[in-house]
Amino acid sequence: MKVLIIGSGGREHALIWKIAMSPKVKKIYCAPGNLGIETVKLGSGLKVAKGLTPFVENIPIQVHELDKLVKFAKEKKIDLTIVGPEAPLIFGIADLFARNNLPIIGPAKKAAQIEGSKVFAKELMAKYGIPTAKFAVFDSFHKAKLYIEAQKFPLVIKAEGQCFGKGVSVCQNKKEANKFLENIFKKKIFDREGKRIVIEECLEGQEVSFMLATDGKDFVSLLPSQDHKRVNDCDRGPNTGGMGAYAPVPFVDKKLIKRIEKEIVIPALRGMQKEGCQYKGILYPGLIITRDGPKVLEFNCRFGDPETQPLMMLLKTDIVDLFEALVDKKLKNYKLKWYKGAAVCVVLTAKGYPGEYEKGKIIYGLPKPFARGTLAKAVMVFHSGTKILNGKLVTLGGRVLGVTARGKNLKDAIKNVYKYIGKKGVYFPGMHYRKDIGKKAVV
Ligand code: AMP
Ligand code: GLY
Repeated sequence: MKVLIIGSGGREHALIWKIAMSPKVKKIYCAPGNLGIETVKLGSGLKVAKGLTPFVENIPIQVHELDKLVKFAKEKKIDLTIVGPEAPLIFGIADLFARNNLPIIGPAKKAAQIEGSKVFAKELMAKYGIPTAKFAVFDSFHKAKLYIEAQKFPLVIKAEGQCFGKGVSVCQNKKEANKFLENIFKKKIFDREGKRIVIEECLEGQEVSFMLATDGKDFVSLLPSQDHKRVNDCDRGPNTGGMGAYAPVPFVDKKLIKRIEKEIVIPALRGMQKEGCQYKGILYPGLIITRDGPKVLEFNCRFGDPETQPLMMLLKTDIVDLFEALVDKKLKNYKLKWYKGAAVCVVLTAKGYPGEYEKGKIIYGLPKPFARGTLAKAVMVFHSGTKILNGKLVTLGGRVLGVTARGKNLKDAIKNVYKYIGKKGVYFPGMHYRKDIGKKAVV
């Protein structure tokens, strides 16, 4: 079969690395893809089913060019499309593909509101009794300002709509909260977005990423994972797109997984059905495990990045088989198989990230881009921001690479991943990475 992946990050590289192992797949396209993704066709670190040549091709169509994407999928007779980032889903790519009888993994526009609209998600949770932070919704500066006068701090302000990852502020005091309100309503830093806001209580606990595949009725949970969003060790510094992740999460045991499914996943799927927007695709509730149990911080309508990288290294089941079961509504009693142990992804970032960052630095120590099998089977380097300049591999994005390793347990996976990072392994000038990915979960 022919598969199309939409997106260009480490998440998409990891998905393609895994999809390319499926004996069912003859050809993979990625729009727009990245440099690492194209190396999959050369077999770097890839285990290929005997007799098959995986062939991955990047195509120059951007994720927001929905008409071009559907035209391409029709022309190439794509059998299955997987959407990486949320934006095309929020803009309705799944509806467009469905109208053209093209199978796609991702929710319809109406259902993708669960990520696209903070207000929609909070109202859904309130209506269907899904545990989440107490909240109130506002559409004017004055009402919001008046409300925070009487609140305890810290509290959290969330702007509605797509705010490029900057729409949430955990405010420590009234001054910070007022400044954020002014930025949203007066300076309009989110342009047309951010007209409505959610103000909610600040919850305490460890965050967990809980992803599942669902046809709207039945679902299969993936292993719980944990992202590390702050740029520096010990969760200090500004928020980023994710500095690393590991899976599974030792403190999320079977009992807690059952509780998450019962209190959060099932009511969310039933609620979406009742609201007339059955959810089909990957659902990713971002949770916080509080003293009173798991609560939802947000819902995402897609795979997490970088959590997908360790998950793909742990997944034993052919992921294309899972996607087919989702499309065919055969998820009831579907069981995923996982490798034993744990996996850790450490993201290497460019100097300055998440602010203005350096570009064009030469990357050393990668398995010759592109030579075969130079990495141990249990380690993969997923690309997110690289390019070739004058024949050399250089940095392009803020998040550059995600070194990902498996181990017989979390401690072992951590040891394995860090062996590959630094002057004796993968390295570029100005490189920054967290030294503590997964460490707080090691007992
Ligand atoms: P969100 O986009 O809603 O996930 O928010 C981004 C980040 O802000 C989360 O990953 C949390 O670290 C933090 N956050 C959001 N809501 C809350 C909350 N109610 N309490 C504590 N932290 C929060
Ligand atoms: N890892 C956070 C996200 O994918 O939204």
